[in-house]
Amino acid sequence: MCGIFGFVSTRELPVALVVDALRTLEYRGYDSWGIAYATSERGGERLAVFKQAGRLPQTLPPLPTSPIALGHTRWATHGGVTDENAHPHLDCSATLAIVHNGIIENYRPLREALEQVGHHFRSGTDSEIFAHLLEDSLQRARRVSESTFSEPPGLLVEAVRQAFAQIRGLNAFIVLHLPSRQLVAVKSTSPLVIGIGREGVFVSSDAVALVGHAEQIYYLRDDEVALLSPQGPRLFDRCTGELRQPQWEPLTLRPADTSLGGFPHYLIKEIHEQPHVIERILRERLDGARQLAELIRRSYGTFLVGCGTAGYAALCGSYLFSRIARRHVNAVIASEFKYQEHFLTDRSLVIALTQSGETVDVIEAVQAAKRRGATVAALVNVTGSTVARLADFTVPLSAGPEQSVLSTKAYTAKLAILLLVAHILNGSEHVGIDVLWRAIDGMELALAPATLDRIRAVAEQLVNAEHCYVIGRGLSYPTALEAALKIKEVTYIHAEGFAGGELKHGVIALIQDGSPCLVFSPLDETRPDILSGAMEVRSRGGWVVGISPEPDEAFHVHIPIADVGDASPLVAIVPAQLLAYELAVRRGLDPDKPRNLAKSVTVK
Ligand code: AGP
Repeated sequence: MCGIFGFVSTRELPVALVVDALRTLEYRGYDSWGIAYATSERGGERLAVFKQAGRLPQTLPPLPTSPIALGHTRWATHGGVTDENAHPHLDCSATLAIVHNGIIENYRPLREALEQVGHHFRSGTDSEIFAHLLEDSLQRARRVSESTFSEPPGLLVEAVRQAFAQIRGLNAFIVLHLPSRQLVAVKSTSPLVIGIGREGVFVSSDAVALVGHAEQIYYLRDDEVALLSPQGPRLFDRCTGELRQPQWEPLTLRPADTSLGGFPHYLIKEIHEQPHVIERILRERLDGARQLAELIRRSYGTFLVGCGTAGYAALCGSYLFSRIARRHVNAVIASEFKYQEHFLTDRSLVIALTQSGETVDVIEAVQAAKRRGATVAALVNVTGSTVARLADFTVPLSAGPEQSVLSTKAYTAKLAILLLVAHILNGSEHVGIDVLWRAIDGMELALAPATLDRIRAVAEQLVNAEHCYVIGRGLSYPTALEAALKIKEVTYIHAEGFAGGELKHGVIALIQDGSPCLVFSPLDETRPDILSGAMEVRSRGGWVVGISPEPDEAFHVHIPIADVGDASPLVAIVPAQLLAYELAVRRGLDPDKPRNLAKSVTVK
């Protein structure tokens, strides 16, 4: 996934505004970055381009002002991480610059055809194809223009429509057309949001980068092309070219939502925001939970689908529905869903769990469900996202922007909503509300200095570990998987989560002197058996860290947490999130932007 951003204005704006936007979008990918802007010189105007491999540096040489500019922060797919492969990419005439998010699946034949008619490529990316394809379409549209197009904007939009129609895949582009000083935005599935404000017109992969610039926003649709000129935006039907009237909505995000708020990293900020998020869910999402419960009640077969952390939330949901509502709900990893969708019917309900709403595996699962006539619901954090728009019914997570690549507050938000829905199904809504208020207190306790001191002591012990094992049973099994994911993706320690009962089926062969093992042991029916597992690890030399309301002889270290019954997964994960953060900091790693990762996996 990449981050793309652009502005066009009636006046000169600081080009540094684009760099700031890229810093906000860097969570989407940070292999390389680049900017392009119009600059006037003696001989007229030209496109200035600056791009390089690597992350955005903390400081940059002073940048000029310009009436039009765009930028890109990259998560590399096709073409290595080099300066040449960084975006923006230009056409042969250097009057068109493009930035791209997605994959042009048919780029090879297109590149060959363009090279045959003389186009010269500077990079090894798929993205650059679009700059030359558009140049080609413009030239063709100009030849036709003698007869049909009356004005330049029609020419540019027509050329973009023609070029975009030739490519396959999930893509979003922003094009800077120097001669007309206009931007064009076009997409299929990958997100683009347009913003209008006092300074000008903006377009971005994510609304978070429009904060402080736009008052009104509009999420571009797949069948639209947006022409952004200094006088304002105009939207056209991508198939017919007809003008459209968008429904603008106010940008509700405020600077406080996207700033670090005094924290050193977004990860630790967002871990600490979790109690407030659950409170907001109790205030704002009760009605949504009730409606989702009704959909489940009416369905014949409910599937929770998600990837990574969201997939573990789905698995936890299946345990919650079983033990609270005595309801069988299937949890399926979204990337596997298409291999087992055959029994879906028009009475099935597929609930997509996704923070970004742009994860391609979740989008494909949702599209597969819709093809089979199933009803689709979504628990999603980004309300203008693709999944939010594909779903028949959406419960927003109310978590606020989650900018660290690691998902934390969106995870516990999903669990809170699922727990609430399970209780509503069971006719015990008030019990669900009460236990979530207890979970809020439990999270605050887990975030308290006394608990943090113990977590830091464990981090000191594990800072050089190569492996780490995490076990839990029942409701704590998804917690073990999620805890291991948090640790592995931000510290690069090989952490693996297991169902506690699986230890003796091979896993315990890995345990040797000093092997660290985190054990989740709430005061529920799993306690006796998980403590036996912990003791088996300890007796083979393992170093056991118990995350539990009560201590036990099996633990070398005990991290106390509140006993909150069925809401234990919301509280138990917090020490693991904090441990992952503390380990990353001690290992000198960036807690917000781990290597090789991006916030949302929009490519397969
Ligand atoms: C979580 O820490 C990871 N960054 C990753 O597993 C993530 O949860 C997964 O890619 C799903 O993302 P989504 O919730 O935006 O769909």
